[in-house]
Amino acid sequence: MTIFSIIGCGFVADLYMRSFAVHDEVSVALAYDQNPDRLAAFGKHWNVKTASDLKAFLADLPKQSIVLNLTNPSAHFEINSAILNAGHHVYCEKPLALNMPDAVALCELAKEQNLRVAAAPCSVLGEAAQTLIHASNSGTAGKPRLIYADLDDGFIPQAPFKDWISESGAPWPAKDEFRVGCTLEHAGYYLSWLIAMNGAVTRVVAASGNVVADLLPNDAGPDFSTATLFFENGVVARLTCSITAPHDHRIRVIGDDGVLVVKQAWNNAAAVRFHRRMRIRRRLLENPVGRKIKATRKTHPKVGRWGAAAMNFGLGPIEMASAIAEDRPCRIGSDFSLHLTEVALAIHNAGDKDGVRTMKTRCTPMQPMPWFDKATEGGN
Ligand SMILES: NC(=O)c1ccc[n+]([C@@H]2O[C@H](COP(=O)([O-])OP(=O)(O)OC[C@H]3O[C@@H](n4cnc5c(N)ncnc54)[C@H](O)[C@@H]3O)[C@@H](O)[C@H]2O)c1
Repeated sequence: MTIFSIIGCGFVADLYMRSFAVHDEVSVALAYDQNPDRLAAFGKHWNVKTASDLKAFLADLPKQSIVLNLTNPSAHFEINSAILNAGHHVYCEKPLALNMPDAVALCELAKEQNLRVAAAPCSVLGEAAQTLIHASNSGTAGKPRLIYADLDDGFIPQAPFKDWISESGAPWPAKDEFRVGCTLEHAGYYLSWLIAMNGAVTRVVAASGNVVADLLPNDAGPDFSTATLFFENGVVARLTCSITAPHDHRIRVIGDDGVLVVKQAWNNAAAVRFHRRMRIRRRLLENPVGRKIKATRKTHPKVGRWGAAAMNFGLGPIEMASAIAEDRPCRIGSDFSLHLTEVALAIHNAGDKDGVRTMKTRCTPMQPMPWFDKATEGGN
């Protein structure tokens, strides 16, 4: 039996519990949340034992337990440190910490104590990601050259997010999501795939900013970012995050022989297709009918869609538990998580000034052609 315990019983904790339900070998021993009402609702819904405070929670666990930190990002460093100092392993939701010195300090603390740190997202361990990585690395599309990855979530300020409630009744934490910003919240989903596929990023050229600041709370983090990532293996990737552009979660690996495409980042069962490049008379195109690529062996249990995701959130903690039991490195352990955190922070913090070349020339907007009545100007 693999046993986990949970701190932070909000929206995502329910997604973990729903995921553990498809793993007979997993159980949750104890849960704690600083909000007593939330803790009670979670404990009752999932029939999980709860602890009345953090001290009691950490003291009640058997030595070297695996604790899932599912609190809000601003609490990650403090809670991760408390877990490690109490002698337990940490599996942390993303981001591992909100700055690099904190992230490095956590990994060093774990090493000193002979404990492990691993961090979400774990969709990189899922079937779609692993199939894409295998296809790219085994040359299905020829030599990979360029990757376009999009994490555009739609125009979220106008979404009915007040109605997004988790299974045990936690509201989607809109204020916190906006404060943290879409890059720290979401870039990791494709960064983890890109790093698993290509290894380390050596250079990041990025910009981040706010395009809907007036529609969000005052303390909102960047709601848009775009980055060009230069990988050690020579591959270049463009990664975009926004909560404004129409929903587009595609990743496209462009190689010498064609393009590998996955259209859904948050679905472990998303199709991976290869579109071969061809010449037809004087035209060059990628075959519009993609060949579906599949794993040749049984993969992992799938979890049905809940809200925006059909992801098995249990894959990360289970990988960590297996790595500990088998005394081997964890695929999403501290080196991987630290690098991912460094790249995500570089994009998030890029702002709109970092590395920018200010233009010396100017021009005015173009005088339009006289083809339109004033009445059409409102867009109706
Ligand atoms: N909302 C999602 O769809 C989603 C999906 C994937 C990952 N995540 C990640 O999961 C994490 C949690 O997000 P969420 O959406 O569940 O947020 P949430 O606000 O719904 O839940 C967080 C819970 O942690 C508790 N908490 C905060 N600080 C604490 C502390 N110091 N001690 C004990 N409890 C504390 C809060 O009371 C709250 O119940 C974040 O890192 C987020 O990025 C969220």
